[in-house]
Amino acid sequence: MLQTKVWRNLIISIAVTIIAVAVLTRSIQPAQTPPSNQSSQTPSSNTSSSTTQVSGVNLYNTYCSACHGSNGSGASGPALNSGSWSDSSKVQTIVKSGKGGMPGFQGQLSDPQIKAIGDYVAALKQ
Ligand code: HEC
Repeated sequence: MLQTKVWRNLIISIAVTIIAVAVLTRSIQPAQTPPSNQSSQTPSSNTSSSTTQVSGVNLYNTYCSACHGSNGSGASGPALNSGSWSDSSKVQTIVKSGKGGMPGFQGQLSDPQIKAIGDYVAALKQ
């Protein structure tokens, strides 16, 4: 009777130890995995987003909004949301070559980027 109790206690404590070890190794592993994931994934996602950035709204806000206002509402440069710039290719021509006090962006921006800006401006409405 006493012997069975001793065996049962021994088995229970062994089982508890195994479970504790299993839980510990599981909780340690996820803590180590994210850093190694980050170091292998972050550089590749960074380069792809910077080389393929052709988001019209982001490019407009970076290169145009200082002079033309956010959403083309106008500032030191004329407003672009009047409806007269609803032709993307006309906007692209001006972005490439500049106009009067506006600098041209050819060389600074790629053709896909200029097209994205043209499409964005053409879609602006008051
Ligand atoms: C340094 C300020 C400046 C920046 C930056 C700038 N522009 Fe301009 N933009 C002007 C000025 C000033 C004019 C008016 C030129 C004129 O008619 O003599 C103009 C004119 C224009 C026109 C013709 C508007 C009209 O009614 O004649 C368009 C279209 C245009 N800009 C689009 C853009 C886009 C798109 C960008 C971003 C890639 C941009 N501009 C960046 C200052 C700027």
